[in-house]
Amino acid sequence: MKKVIGLTLVFLFTAVLVASAQENALSLYGSAEPRSIEALATGFEQATGVKVNWIRLSSGETLARLRAEKENPQADVWWGGTIDPHSIAALEGLTESYCPSVYDEMDPRFRDPLGDCKVIGVYVGILGFSVNQDVLNEMGLPIPTGWEDLLDPRYKGLIGIANPNTSGTALTTLATQVFRKGEEKGEKIDEDAGLEYMKKLHQNIANYTKSGVAPGILAGRGEIAIAIIFMHDAVYHAEEGYPVTPIAPKEGTGYEIGGLNMVKGAPHPELAKKFMDWVVSAEAQETQAPIGAYQLPTNTKAKVPEVSIPIDSVKTVNYDFQWVAENGVRITDRWTREVFTMPR
Ligand code: G6P
Repeated sequence: MKKVIGLTLVFLFTAVLVASAQENALSLYGSAEPRSIEALATGFEQATGVKVNWIRLSSGETLARLRAEKENPQADVWWGGTIDPHSIAALEGLTESYCPSVYDEMDPRFRDPLGDCKVIGVYVGILGFSVNQDVLNEMGLPIPTGWEDLLDPRYKGLIGIANPNTSGTALTTLATQVFRKGEEKGEKIDEDAGLEYMKKLHQNIANYTKSGVAPGILAGRGEIAIAIIFMHDAVYHAEEGYPVTPIAPKEGTGYEIGGLNMVKGAPHPELAKKFMDWVVSAEAQETQAPIGAYQLPTNTKAKVPEVSIPIDSVKTVNYDFQWVAENGVRITDRWTREVFTMPR
């Protein structure tokens, strides 16, 4: 009997310990590269003593998960990944507005694109191509310099991009075409022409991946020749020894703001706010360059990595984050019906 009571006490004690450990741990969904999330989790633990439990999901996958968990939220904070799915989550009431304490240190162009701190901007990344020169040279093909070049039939099966249903990178690409085609006509958007472009591009796509960065790895390995990804990832892949070069499309390109959100009904709202205050500090943003994450920081006091591509050096389209927040789901559905299902 004594033994049973003893065992029961040990069990209860362990259960209390586990519960209190969970009580004090922040639950984080991250949608940038795993090494980025890991560096932030470690930095936050060192700075505050708060443990972080994190998982990496692509931006669109995280949005789907937040919808599924709406009645029983599991995460406190969602950090990173393109802001568009974060903005969609905010408009759907899945997240809470919160202005981090260092808001005034942050670049007004990128810190709060929807206003009222509905979503916070944590970094900036510029969309482009990662091109494997070796593959193109071997095939006697030119290096593409712009979006329209990608439609050349000689690139059939040589281009990789992700699926906008799961990947924020791919949604940025789709929206970029809608803005670019609008600008060609002197208008803000041309949705039909953007989708027409994606249909033509579809003819040259080798495959659609789940995560945005995956085509960059395929291009690095020479399984395809051209990846449509954020150029800071191409810079990192080149540093890692892959024969790839980042190319900024000459007609003008889109860019991402990395998103940050507090989940509505977060199990640990105070920890969520603490993390959000810390993660946009210069100290936190400077954890990224040493691990090869070369997005541009949004805290104006953070050092800009030497190898980062300045946004002012690239021709960009007028990317309207509010428009994508309101229309991102609809244009993704159009893409799925009108482009993805087409034979190629
Ligand atoms: C990579 C980039 C990030 C970007 C993310 C989007 O991790 O380095 O800057 O935010 O991709 O991921 P997704 O899988 O949603 O396209």
